[in-house]
Amino acid sequence: MAHDIDSVFTHIDDHLEDSLERLKSLLRIPSVSTDPAFDPEVLRCAQCAGDLLAELGMDVTVHDTIGHPIVIARDEGPGTDDAPTFLYYGHYDVQPADPYELWDSDPFDPQIVDGPNGPRIVARGADDDKGQFMTFVEAFRAWKAVHGTLPVRIIVLLEGEEESGSRSLDPFLTEHRDALQADACIICDTGMWDHETPAITTMLRGIVGMEAILHGPDHDLHSGMYGGAVLNPINALARIVGELHDADGRIQIDGFYDDVYEPDSVEQWNAMGFDEAGFLASGGCTASVGEAGHSTLERIWSRPTCDANGIYGGYQGAGGKTVIASHAGVKLTCRLVPDQDADKVRAGLEQFFLDRTPPGGRFEFIGEGAFPAIRVPTDSPWLAAACRGLEQAWGKEAVLMGCGGSIPVVGSFQSILGIDSLLVGFGLDDDRVHSPNEKYDLRSFHTGIKSHVAILAQFADVAAG
Ligand code: BES
Ligand code: MN
Ligand code: MN
Repeated sequence: MAHDIDSVFTHIDDHLEDSLERLKSLLRIPSVSTDPAFDPEVLRCAQCAGDLLAELGMDVTVHDTIGHPIVIARDEGPGTDDAPTFLYYGHYDVQPADPYELWDSDPFDPQIVDGPNGPRIVARGADDDKGQFMTFVEAFRAWKAVHGTLPVRIIVLLEGEEESGSRSLDPFLTEHRDALQADACIICDTGMWDHETPAITTMLRGIVGMEAILHGPDHDLHSGMYGGAVLNPINALARIVGELHDADGRIQIDGFYDDVYEPDSVEQWNAMGFDEAGFLASGGCTASVGEAGHSTLERIWSRPTCDANGIYGGYQGAGGKTVIASHAGVKLTCRLVPDQDADKVRAGLEQFFLDRTPPGGRFEFIGEGAFPAIRVPTDSPWLAAACRGLEQAWGKEAVLMGCGGSIPVVGSFQSILGIDSLLVGFGLDDDRVHSPNEKYDLRSFHTGIKSHVAILAQFADVAAG
């Protein structure tokens, strides 16, 4: 049965202001999952998201977990036995808004501001991930308003710990394995190829995080009395961090590249007309830097990294202080590509530091999360259906692409539920995710809602044969 999506599109156009108000109500809640000071707000956000889904007539449960709540909403769709089920995923938690002083407006008071590609909504979570997951929630709302019932069975899962390690997710998926069975998962947390070209992401990098602390003197020392005669942990750590890459940008950890998968689509990527200048400009960067012999797209999509994310030690206050710090630390993450083993990379990273322990020094390691890279099969009928839906909404063929970021839930859906994911999102490179002045273009939101409507209709068509 062909579904009438034009009248749903018209409904979306006519009610966009209401959709935006609902998104703003979520953006006003500072659901920062990593900082316990925000725990009550994270809970409030889970309830608010649950209420929005309950308003659609979905059957909603806000599940307590060992961490932040997981919101589950179910809709029986047409109610027929043969209707397929789709599991939609988003996360309602956000990154901390710090540093606050770099925002042009309050990060939790969403503002509509003009930009080069039309108006945009500015707030922490505007893209990642409240604006994104509200595209499918609003699509369900519009569909139901026009047609009464959804054309397929839907389960929505909204997580509150994506930005802080997802520790409750795997136990939750294991416990609710049967209730969460679906034909495919749809994850709305990735980007488009450019501001007018929709995309489905089929490769994501994995991640290994670690903090390495080099201990030296047992207390801070006067740098005149001791300087030049004892270990300075900051000097030594900086040198070791510097040795992580050679002059060609190759990572020097033993065995790091052993298992790296070499994709056969590199030539195709390099012919996609990637806007390198626009990419650099979106980050305020003036030069392309990275592993020699690889294009920027390869460096982001299919090459592994090792990046220091923070480095500390010694005196950070105003003015100077003549001191030799007792210790120095670095927070690091490696982005992994397919076939690299996260545990092996972690072990290699620790060994790299241990092998370089300076006389009088001692390394301490604090392990953070580890998730392997992901590839999603590109031959599924649901993926083809989603591509057709995206083309209907955007008037342009969808691109299959890689992504430098990590979405650990994709691996959990694969390994625990046995379900492959479709990564359909509307973020843009210049959205400043995780940064001050995060934004989401209204076009991403508006056409994103329409995309999910068109995809629903395509799913229903595939199911009907
Ligand atoms: N939505 C992002 C992942 C992403 C980033 C997709 C850029 C597309 C483009 C997600 O919320 C995220 O930030 N993931 C973390 C995972 C980590 C904390 C385990 C990441 O990639 O750093
Ligand atoms: Mn996200
Ligand atoms: Mn994020």
